[in-house]
Amino acid sequence: MNILILGGGGREHALAWAVMQNPKCDKLIVAPGNAGIAQIAECASLNIEDGAAVVNFCEAESIEFVIIGPEAPLAAGVGDRLREAVLLVFGPSKAAAQLEASKSFTKEICDAANAPTAAYGHFTEAEKAISYVNEKGAPIVVKADGLAAGKGVIIAETVAEAHAAIDDMFGGAFGGAGAEVVIEEFMEGEEASFFVLCDGETALPIGTAQDHKRVGDGDTGPNTGGMGAYSPAPVLTDAVAEKALDDIIRPTLREMAARGMPYQGVLYAGLMIKDGEPRLVEYNVRFGDPECQVLMMRLGAQALDLMQAAAEGRLADARVNWAGDHALTVVMAAKGYPGSYEKGSVIKGLESCGEDSFHMVFHAGTGESGGHIVATGGRVLNVTARGGSLKEAADRAYGMVDRIDWPEGFCRRDIGWRSL
Ligand code: AMP
Ligand code: GLY
Repeated sequence: MNILILGGGGREHALAWAVMQNPKCDKLIVAPGNAGIAQIAECASLNIEDGAAVVNFCEAESIEFVIIGPEAPLAAGVGDRLREAVLLVFGPSKAAAQLEASKSFTKEICDAANAPTAAYGHFTEAEKAISYVNEKGAPIVVKADGLAAGKGVIIAETVAEAHAAIDDMFGGAFGGAGAEVVIEEFMEGEEASFFVLCDGETALPIGTAQDHKRVGDGDTGPNTGGMGAYSPAPVLTDAVAEKALDDIIRPTLREMAARGMPYQGVLYAGLMIKDGEPRLVEYNVRFGDPECQVLMMRLGAQALDLMQAAAEGRLADARVNWAGDHALTVVMAAKGYPGSYEKGSVIKGLESCGEDSFHMVFHAGTGESGGHIVATGGRVLNVTARGGSLKEAADRAYGMVDRIDWPEGFCRRDIGWRSL
């Protein structure tokens, strides 16, 4: 099978690594890819949000299966264009991608599906939003409705902070994403991520994870795209996972199908768990980054069979082969991230990390220059390991981190602390 993966981060390197291990894969192209992906697959430059360009590329390269990594091409409807061209695609339609692209859409689906989530109000004018906050009090959560690269959520500790967030959003701080605002009850509990493959009807859980959003050790400092993750997440026990499937995920799939927008792809449910009861924080319509890296480390080659089964509507007959293992990934980022940082510094020592099914360095923002691997982004490497216990995985991952020679980079030293 000839396969195209869209995207070029650590998530897509992990997807490519898993796909390449499956003998079914004859040819793999990743667009745009990165320097790490280029070591295992062909990389191509392509505007991945332009559906017609992606269709033409697939025809020219005899691609049979397209795996869409990030949310932007999904929200732009690239999956729909590919399906119209009779290509097999892993990833939801533009309509179904609203589960990530519009928070008010998701809240409305939850209402219709009777799925437990935070109480909320939805506003298109600042004045009404402010009255709602005054009535509910703080803490309270203010969210830009649309895609805001993970930055459109303000947890307001006081009413004054909530007012300021509302003014910022309607004032255009988040562009079009903030033209509508959702205000939510602040939910307490422990957060975890639940990953479920869907084929429109059937939901197949493929793993749980927890990530670390804050930049600093001890969960301090500003929010980031994620500084590390591990799988499984102990708080998401089998009993909690069953509840999440019965009360949240399956009712959502039924509601989406009833509206003529069946959901196909991976559904990433961010859950808040308190006293064994899960509530939905948000949906994403793609794998998490860096959560995908730990899931792929655990699933390996079968990930391709499972994604293909989702795309072909065969999940009812699919099974996941579980090993009782753990995986952990440490993000190495350029100093300064998530603020401004330098690009172009040279990373050495990667060859000493010894890549195998227990050790893998997935690349995020890297490029190749003059025979060296150089940093080209904020989050740069995902140093990932597998083990019989979380401690073993963490020791292996930090062992690799210590062999990497990159003075311009940094990482958190406490990934997994909640469970270790
Ligand atoms: P989101 O972009 O919706 O995932 O929000 C980003 C983060 O904000 C989540 O991962 C949570 O940590 C936090 N968050 C969002 N909504 C709520 C809520 N209603 N209650 C508590 N925390 C929340
Ligand atoms: N790591 C969080 C996300 O991918 O949304």
